[in-house]
Amino acid sequence: MTKGLNHFIKCFLGGLLTISVIFSCNDSPYMQGKRLYLANCANCHMEDGSGLSALIPSIQKSVYLGKPEIACILKNGLRDTIFKDSTFLVREMPAFKKFSATEITNIVNFVNHSWNTSFKETTITQIEEAINICQ
Ligand code: HEC
Repeated sequence: MTKGLNHFIKCFLGGLLTISVIFSCNDSPYMQGKRLYLANCANCHMEDGSGLSALIPSIQKSVYLGKPEIACILKNGLRDTIFKDSTFLVREMPAFKKFSATEITNIVNFVNHSWNTSFKETTITQIEEAINICQ
């Protein structure tokens, strides 16, 4: 390979790497949480957390945001709890048994910081403690 071409390829690859690093840094700081949210939650709660009218509640202002107990909803699901338009929502939220404490922590931090930035970072220890005492 000629020196010039070699140099070009190295610079080109280096450039690509720099661009991808810049882009990944500019995105949400909770990348795994965002990925898991989009794959597991957005089909019901929508990408922006706004829910689906009478069927699925919005989570943008949920009282569970900012509280470690939100981990229990994710682990156990939720039904007949959210009251809207003078009735309980008919749909239920499925349990996500498969999520590890790390995954739950990442999802929780993602939803906590997507629509409201005043929440403190939730730690994995807080999530583990909450999971241990879920009903
Ligand atoms: C199959 C649809 C569905 C999926 C998928 C789903 N949810 Fe839900 N979610 C619901 C429903 C329905 C409720 C309300 C349940 C009730 O009335 O008790 C709910 C309730 C909630 C609440 C409480 C809302 C409030 O008003 O305070 C939060 C927070 C929440 N979900 C977060 C999530 C997260 C995070 C995920 C992904 C891990 C997720 N949900 C996946 C349907 C879903």
